Amino acid sequence: QEDHFKKVLSHAKEYGYVFQSSEIYDGLSAVYDYAQNGVELKKNIRAYWWKAMVQMHENIVGLDASILMHPKTWKASGHVDAFNDPLIDNKDSKKRYRADVLIEDYCAKIEGKIDKEVAKAEKRFGDSFNKEEFLATNERVSGYQEKINSILARMGKSLENEDLVDVKLLIEELEIADPLTGSRNWTEVKQFNLMFGTQIGASADTATQVYLRPETAQGIFVNFLNVQKTGRMKIPFGIAQTGKAFRNEIVARQFIFRMREFEQMEMQFFVKPGTQKEYYEHWKATRLKWHLSLGMGAENYRFHDHDKLAHYADAAADIEFKFPFGFKELEGIHSRTDFDLKAHEAHSGKKLQYFDPEENRSYTPYVVETSIGLDRMFLAVFSNSLHEEALENGTTRTVLKLPAVLAPYKAAIFPLVKKDGLPEVAREIMKELKWDFNVFYDEKDAVGKRYRRQDAAGTPFCITVDHESLEDACVTIRHRDTMEQKRVKISELKGIIEKEVAI
Ligand code: GAP
Repeated sequence: QEDHFKKVLSHAKEYGYVFQSSEIYDGLSAVYDYAQNGVELKKNIRAYWWKAMVQMHENIVGLDASILMHPKTWKASGHVDAFNDPLIDNKDSKKRYRADVLIEDYCAKIEGKIDKEVAKAEKRFGDSFNKEEFLATNERVSGYQEKINSILARMGKSLENEDLVDVKLLIEELEIADPLTGSRNWTEVKQFNLMFGTQIGASADTATQVYLRPETAQGIFVNFLNVQKTGRMKIPFGIAQTGKAFRNEIVARQFIFRMREFEQMEMQFFVKPGTQKEYYEHWKATRLKWHLSLGMGAENYRFHDHDKLAHYADAAADIEFKFPFGFKELEGIHSRTDFDLKAHEAHSGKKLQYFDPEENRSYTPYVVETSIGLDRMFLAVFSNSLHEEALENGTTRTVLKLPAVLAPYKAAIFPLVKKDGLPEVAREIMKELKWDFNVFYDEKDAVGKRYRRQDAAGTPFCITVDHESLEDACVTIRHRDTMEQKRVKISELKGIIEKEVAI
């Protein structure tokens, strides 16, 4: 698994998907740039989401709110006071750790130790080895296991801010050492606000402190009534938005899984109070269906229903995906009650109510939200698609089996050789197809090598023009996943590609 993740990282760079930000200056931690192929994949994921959420729903409309908002927004939303992570400073190493990540590391370390003990015993006992029996009787190993179980039980699996006290106790109790120095010299667990601050205005005394938004959702809440009135929207209705969000994450790791600058795709669905449960279930099911429609394997998804709820929620669940480093949150579905609209009413002094013509009364709607990280979705798609296949001739091929609908280029067009009028025909085909699809032209190297390049880049079709094409107006079309080749009429190409790549 770790190996696969390493391959994902190097492949993303080698094939022009993701680069480290400001790489020539040794990069900026947890900030990344999307390269020539990455920007296309990202754009296609965004479009796939937008079509499903906005175009296919008469009662959902879009919005593009600004990143900078009035500072009172974040007071109302709770982000100024409560958007904190538990942070631990180690006096000796002057390193900062996020408590939950630290404990996760610790669990992984113990798990590693257990695996080693088991492997040793397996070697020693050979066929007669029974893992369950060994774990049950081996004191040292079951001691580790107990520690893991107690940590997980006390964490309730994921760590919330209220667990600060627990974290401190755990650190003391389990004597967790600094993974780098081995020192146990921890100071207090502190709260650390995750918002990036900046100023509007030139001079220090008149400048206003503002924040880069840590979620896109608040842009939707503050525009709720504007959109409802100008769009003459009737409840239930939704507002959808994609855009950048910023969080000063303490521990940035796992590539584009947890970034300091990232993109969210969020939809807030406004409903009549009392009906939120029904819509919460509806959106849970609808969002899972969206994921499954990409064909990345139902076994790679699971729901995680939250027992501990944030201050604004009356129900919440994650859709988790099996990333190369295990099942992790990909998307959140939250029933946010009327917390946000009520808070904005209180802080702005403006009514944010809906007049229900059927009931002839005004009320503050409840909100069910779906929120997915675009970069996380990118990582899910990319890591799930990367395969190394052993071929019959003894070689291996690297193939990026992206869902065709999301692939950066839909087809690559090759003249078999760089002469005899073949490039001209290939260029003609390219000229036709590029009105409908992003297509790639390549005439360098042997055709087999060109196929491999496109396999690794994720292009679903390769089209080769050969000498016969000049006679019969046919070409060879090769399918990335099956490597099957077929002779088809040039005039049929558009239809064949369209069938697989249409959103
Ligand atoms: N408006 C609700 C909200 O922002 P969240 O669970 O904090 O909820 C929603 O974030 C989604 O945004 C997550 O499921 C994840 O996919 C993505 N996300 C959150 N923090 C992220 C980060 N630092 N880097 C990349 N994606 C992130």
